[in-house]
Amino acid sequence: MTITFVGHGYVGLVTAAVFADLGNTVWVIGHTPEKIEKLKKGIIPIYEPGLEELVKKNVDAGRLLFTLDYDPAIPQSDAIFIAVGTPPKSNGEANLSVVLDVAEKIGKHLDGYSVVATKSTVPVATNIKVQEIINDVKPEEAKFDYASVPEFLREGQALSDTFYPDRVVIGADAKRASDLLTELHQPILENDVVPNGTNLILTNIPTAEMIKYASNAFLATKISYANAIAYVSELTGANGLDVLEGIGLDKRIGNLFLQPGAGYGGSCFPKDVRALIEIAREYGYDFRLLKDVEEINREMMLGILKKARKLLDQKLRKRTVAVLGLAFKPKTDDMRDAPAITIIRDLLEEGVTVKVFDPIAMENAKRIFAKEKELIFAKDPYDAVKDTELLIIVTDWNEFKELNLKKVKDLMKSPNLIDGRNIYNPEKTRELGFTYVGVGR
Ligand code: UDX
Repeated sequence: MTITFVGHGYVGLVTAAVFADLGNTVWVIGHTPEKIEKLKKGIIPIYEPGLEELVKKNVDAGRLLFTLDYDPAIPQSDAIFIAVGTPPKSNGEANLSVVLDVAEKIGKHLDGYSVVATKSTVPVATNIKVQEIINDVKPEEAKFDYASVPEFLREGQALSDTFYPDRVVIGADAKRASDLLTELHQPILENDVVPNGTNLILTNIPTAEMIKYASNAFLATKISYANAIAYVSELTGANGLDVLEGIGLDKRIGNLFLQPGAGYGGSCFPKDVRALIEIAREYGYDFRLLKDVEEINREMMLGILKKARKLLDQKLRKRTVAVLGLAFKPKTDDMRDAPAITIIRDLLEEGVTVKVFDPIAMENAKRIFAKEKELIFAKDPYDAVKDTELLIIVTDWNEFKELNLKKVKDLMKSPNLIDGRNIYNPEKTRELGFTYVGVGR
């Protein structure tokens, strides 16, 4: 098939590369000339393990084509995927202006029959607006059906999540559209890597859109639940990690996404939880549970500050603290809604000098904190901890798990350690002379 992706962020670029690798001709439309020029040479604007190689391979094979123009990509395409960003507005609602703008451009270039599908996470009912816009602008003889094909990939594991997903969700009202999209996904559905195979859910459009929001909000809820249990365990003297292991062994609960820590972040959970609260509100439902999920997440970041105060005798002003880990999770340079941003801002506001290091998110951090004077970008973890009175681990990078802690301790002015992701063995760090505080233990 010939297909088009509009947008080359995590979702657009990864899915485009995967479908090209499966043998389709795939166009990717962008709007920044420099980025498109780089992509044509196989240089990608994001960090994702294995993606650059996959993009290069398929560009070289002539199956993956990057362009700024809707012509000739759209008229040739059997399916067109909208995969642009939907960043939250200040009230939490998803900002749909780019999606609607793209819909108009697609509509103008339609030729023959195509399926237009959204992969961007959009509120239920966006589909009606998108269809209206396309209907208004499309050439009279052009025909299209609309579909929603939400994406469940995780950054850092985006390729395997796309080649071997747990499920493929296709929301479409027209059979012609769901047949075409099922055929496109057939090689993914038939993989023999996922135990019991990849399930296909064929449903209507609002259901598909809701599945995406409800999944992310549920996972965020699970993490906030784990964080709250960890917190209460700390207060009661229970070992929160053992408690969570104990509940995770119940198959109905499962042990994944029960790691307490410095809070969830990223481009999806915070935004989608906010958006679902907002969608519910518009329909007259006060989604109290999700409001608490957000509140608990914020409290986890404040909790790090409280622990820092306690370790430094309530005097944070003019102290120097090291923060290791800036990305919202390991194996990505993505800092969108990263807990590190909130934690660092809180520390800076208290008058702390903060030394930071991350294996790959340093460039993004420099942009985000461009105006901060009391923030020092270290060249490696040892440089970051030198002469500090407290080390805070915010992201569970393997690089940090393997640090020479003896060396770290010797470099620090006083060896206080807040292990915001529970990556170290408390006894061992205490034996080395650290004052260790984890989360929930
Ligand atoms: C998520 C969803 O997993 C994915 O299905 C969806 O399509 C997009 O959003 P992603 O944002 O890439 O993917 O990251 P994920 O691995 O889910 O982690 C999200 C956040 O939760 C991270 O900040 C992570 O550190 C945190 N987390 C995760 C925890 O704090 N504890 C856990 O047990 C798991």
